[in-house]
Amino acid sequence: MKNSGLFIVESGSYKDKFTLSSNELKLLASADGVEIMTQTISEGVIFDVAPSSDDESSMMEFFYLLEGEIEYIRSDNERVEMNVGDCFYAHNLNECCVFNPITDIKILYVATQPIFHELGESMRELHKLNYELQFKDQYTQGHSERVRELSLNLAVEMGLNRDVIANVALAGLFHDVGKIEIPSRILKKSSRLDDEEYEIVKRHSMTSSELVKNINYMDISHIVAQHHERFDGSGYPTGMVGKNICMESRIIAVADTYDAMMTDRPYRSKIEKVKVITEINELSGTKYDPKVVDAFNRLLIRDKL
Ligand SMILES: [Fe+2]
Repeated sequence: MKNSGLFIVESGSYKDKFTLSSNELKLLASADGVEIMTQTISEGVIFDVAPSSDDESSMMEFFYLLEGEIEYIRSDNERVEMNVGDCFYAHNLNECCVFNPITDIKILYVATQPIFHELGESMRELHKLNYELQFKDQYTQGHSERVRELSLNLAVEMGLNRDVIANVALAGLFHDVGKIEIPSRILKKSSRLDDEEYEIVKRHSMTSSELVKNINYMDISHIVAQHHERFDGSGYPTGMVGKNICMESRIIAVADTYDAMMTDRPYRSKIEKVKVITEINELSGTKYDPKVVDAFNRLLIRDKL
């Protein structure tokens, strides 16, 4: 039966909800393909509004700032600040638009085509796996979010194309999701892994790559597959070299290493920040892309890490 009539949505209620750690999307109303949502996003969690992957689509997305402050990061890196009552909308975008919440924010989000479930279904499954992974391997707690954030900051600092920035954010978040298939005894092993165990660990980049193929609006599987490749060809799974490795993966490589070294692992304690920075710089041009390390150093100088 077709829904018709007047619908009252009481304060706090909603039709459906999609929660990420720092982001909550609530579907308040939907009809004739139009969706009305509210979204809350935590301070500092940069997000993007991306062009539609469907050329035929002419969806409009409208955002009205209900709470908090936000800045739009233009492609020349200039910032445009917006406050409560300001709004923006996107129609026939050619490139991603990137926004940085200066405070926790709440926005009213209207889409003229249904995207809630498209965003929800595939992402929900991946977030669930990321969440389960944190229980399986307590050392990865918060790692994916931190890698996402640092990778994103690096991409913005490098002044990269908005699409690269959007890819890097999503791939940073799910780069290790395939670790869910590594047995706990290996993830938690406090001594050195033997060759066979290390081979099992190394499979995770391809497992992650397979899992993110389910995201139907963005292809990031190649980025995730390459996140352990290294600039000099010493990485895995295929030993790709230099710029053959996609830019997003070269960025995630630095962010991933930085965060991994800065946190405790089963087989070693966290490493002092100054030593981590020294090591990353010493490996610039061998393991890591020098341009990414330069951006990393600029972020450090501006105290962004
Ligand atoms: Fe990894």
